[in-house]
Amino acid sequence: MATPEISQVLLTEEQIRARVRDLAEEIDRDYAGCDLLVVSVLKGAFYFLADLTRAMRIQVAIDFMAISSYRGGKGPSGAVRLIKDLDEDLTGRHVLLVEDIIDTGLTASYLLRTLQARDPADLAICTLLDKTARRIAHTLPIRYRGFEVPDLFLVGYGLDYRQFHRNLPYIGVIRDDFLRREPASS
Ligand code: IMP
Ligand code: MG
Repeated sequence: MATPEISQVLLTEEQIRARVRDLAEEIDRDYAGCDLLVVSVLKGAFYFLADLTRAMRIQVAIDFMAISSYRGGKGPSGAVRLIKDLDEDLTGRHVLLVEDIIDTGLTASYLLRTLQARDPADLAICTLLDKTARRIAHTLPIRYRGFEVPDLFLVGYGLDYRQFHRNLPYIGVIRDDFLRREPASS
């Protein structure tokens, strides 16, 4: 194991690569001839977004926003502060929100409300990981899903624990005793 904090590799580099290729093919088929705008949230989705869009063959525009979630002692609230907004106008466009992981779904739900208010022709989600067990927001338009994952704290391929481990090429489970040392902040 490359990193002592990781107890288990959940998804290998090869598994991720193969699934990302499949998703890109699906998106290519579904959005052929559309004016597709892929939007993503910094920072967790940056490897996924890069690999996904690079595997796509259709013409696509890419834009970013940055948010900060409030996750105090009372758990996730879904309240999100926009730190950097998109540069692109969404009016009349086919918009695909690319996410690293959807957990409670509250963050995605908030973002969708914000984006929907800008009158896109169509708005859907592509998430690499789906932690369905913890879902609170149940009506998300998740059109593409890489993997359904168990309720474990995952790091790597963009996902962090206290800003570290994003650059692991695989997705791993962080050791329980390591997590318990200090409360996590997102
Ligand atoms: P949600 O609002 O609960 O769906 O929060 C989703 C966000 O929580 C993700 O974009 C991640 O930043 C973070 N998150 C949720 N689960 C994990 C995990 O297992 N590892 C790292 N970050 C996570
Ligand atoms: Mg995220």
